[in-house]
Amino acid sequence: MRIEVAEHAGFCFGVKRAVDTVYQEVEKADGQKIYTYGPVVHNEEVVRDLEERSVTVLQPGETLPAGDSGTIITRAHGVSKETEEALLATGLRNVDTTCPFVKRIHKIVAEQSAAGKWIIIIGAAGHPEVIGIRGWADGPVTVIASAEEAEAFSAPEGTEICVVSQTTFNANKFEDLVAILNKKRYNITCVNTICNATHERQREAEALAARADRMIVIGSKTSSNSQKLYEICKAKCPNTCFIQTQADLDLRLHGNEQLIGITAGASTPKYIIEEVFKECQNRLLNKC
Ligand code: F3S
Repeated sequence: MRIEVAEHAGFCFGVKRAVDTVYQEVEKADGQKIYTYGPVVHNEEVVRDLEERSVTVLQPGETLPAGDSGTIITRAHGVSKETEEALLATGLRNVDTTCPFVKRIHKIVAEQSAAGKWIIIIGAAGHPEVIGIRGWADGPVTVIASAEEAEAFSAPEGTEICVVSQTTFNANKFEDLVAILNKKRYNITCVNTICNATHERQREAEALAARADRMIVIGSKTSSNSQKLYEICKAKCPNTCFIQTQADLDLRLHGNEQLIGITAGASTPKYIIEEVFKECQNRLLNKC
C-alpha cells in the first residue's frame, strides 16, 4: 500500500508569502504590537499559533487602533481602497501582503472604472477578496456568481463593461457566465483573472482521487477552496474524508487498499500535511 501526497497540496504562493511575512514580523517585533486585518489565512491552527505569539486579529469593520504603535498587516486577499487608506491613517506601520495576482485585479478595476467602464466581478459577493476588489471601482460595479444573475444583469444601452474574476472562481463557470453576458450585446472587455494555483490543485486532486482507494482532504471547514477540493475528490473517490488535523483522522482500513491519497486546501500549512502523512504511515504499520 502506498501513500501519495498531491504535489501542490497546501499553501499557494500568495498565502505562503503572507503567512511567512507575519512570522517574520513576529520575529522582529521586539515587544511592539502586531495586528493582521482579518485572519491571515482561513486556518484556525495557524491563527491560534499566531495569537499565542501575540498577534491580534482585527475583524473587518472593527475600530482600528489609531494612535497605537506597532505593525498592521493586510492579508493575501487584499482590501478595498477605502480600507487601505484607513489602515494608513492609523499611523501604524503598514505591511501589505496582498497577493500580486489580486493587486493586478485592483489595478485593472481602478483603471477601467476611471475610464468610465461598468465593472462586473464574477465571484462570491461576500468573499473578502471580492469585497476588496469591488472597493477599487469608482463607478458602477456588479458582482455576479450565477447564470441567473448574469441573465438578470442589465445596464443602459451602449454601456462599456469590464469583466474580471475572483481569483479562485471556477474557470468553466466563468466562461459560461461571460458567454451569457456577451449575448447581451454590450461592449465588453473581459480579463480572465482566475489564478492558476487553484485550478492546478483541483486538477491534481481529481486525478489522484481517481486512482486512490482512500482520499484525505485536509483543510479548515471555513475554507471554501478546501471544501471545493473535498467535493471534487468525493466525486472520484467515495471514500474521501475531510479533516482539519491528524487528530480528526479516522482511517479504519480494510486491508485491501492500494493507495491513500492526500491533498490539502490553499490555507493548510505544510506541517499539518506532514503530520497527517506520518499518522497514515503509523496506522498502516499498526494496521489500524
Ligand atoms: Fe494568490 Fe492565487 Fe493564492 S491569487 S493568494 S496565489 S490562489
